Amino acid sequence: MKTTLQISISKTKQSRLQETDFENLVFGKSISDHMFVADYKNGEWTDLRIEPYAPLMLYPANSTLHYGQAIFEGMKAYKNEAGEILLFRADANQKRLNESAVRMCIPEVPAEIFMEGLMTLLDLDRDWIPNKPGYSLYIRPFIFATDDYLGVRPSETYKFMIFTCPVGNYYSKPVSVKVEQHYTRAAEGGTGFAKAAGNYAGSLYPALLAQKQGYDQLLWTDAKTHENIEESGTMNVMFMINDTLITAPTHTGTILKGITRDSVIQLAKEMGYVVEERFLKVSELEDALKNGSIQEAFGTGTAATIAHIAKINIKGKDYELPEKPEYAFSNQVLKKLDDIKYGKVADSRGWIV
Ligand code: COI
Repeated sequence: MKTTLQISISKTKQSRLQETDFENLVFGKSISDHMFVADYKNGEWTDLRIEPYAPLMLYPANSTLHYGQAIFEGMKAYKNEAGEILLFRADANQKRLNESAVRMCIPEVPAEIFMEGLMTLLDLDRDWIPNKPGYSLYIRPFIFATDDYLGVRPSETYKFMIFTCPVGNYYSKPVSVKVEQHYTRAAEGGTGFAKAAGNYAGSLYPALLAQKQGYDQLLWTDAKTHENIEESGTMNVMFMINDTLITAPTHTGTILKGITRDSVIQLAKEMGYVVEERFLKVSELEDALKNGSIQEAFGTGTAATIAHIAKINIKGKDYELPEKPEYAFSNQVLKKLDDIKYGKVADSRGWIV
């Protein structure tokens, strides 16, 4: 790849590639050899570099540790049969990172720093990209405040970093979810649409309570009425009721603008499905589960890809969903997405770099 930016590269002396068990990848456990780093100071992103993946030195007064001024992204790289590296909708992740940045008073990262930093890193760690169906290299770009200062105000210094990890499926089996009608993930005017670190921290305790009851995840509802289904912990959610695909809209600012969500909506429309971006009421979901009009429920996300939902708990009652046959929409759309991501079909939508 041709780069126009000055990125210094310091390679690891001891690759961890050989000791990594690519047959038993646990999401987020095996991290590739290198990381991209840029520092923000005096109003600009400087000192672009690639270093061996290693611990960071931080002052205890680091403002991220206290006030959570931090955002992240999740994206994936794939290998096609010719061994070329394919990135799926990287431009959308780059834009979304900056939308999160604005909401959290973090300086935006110019597209060329994001893309060239990423591509240089992928080029260096290309051997870490699995070339098996269902496997990919998960990419974690993130920005965090680095001021050594305890006052509450936007930091004046930041780090933008990218590291990667080879991954398989995030969920190894269909998930069971519980509709959450007490705790709140996001309120209108809040930070729900941003990939802000604190959104995830705040969701852990309610999710843990559900996990203790045997559920994998929550289905969050809106903060005001707790009657509208919003999203799940690590993914957007979609419901096929009769032949209509329903998923929460993003205009309230409480829903993460998922790139997989957007891709599935686009593919569903191309496949001839009616798509409704509207809030599904908990009562509507309950009726659909009782009368059998619900055909499918699934999560969409970069890490999760398409995660089938097998069980939904509403107000203490469990409803089981039938197993998904191959012709089910969620399986078909997963195959279509995979064919695009692994370069098995021509990319007519400009999604692949
Ligand atoms: C992703 O799908 O990339 C996410 O951000 C979910 C993550 C928190 C595991």
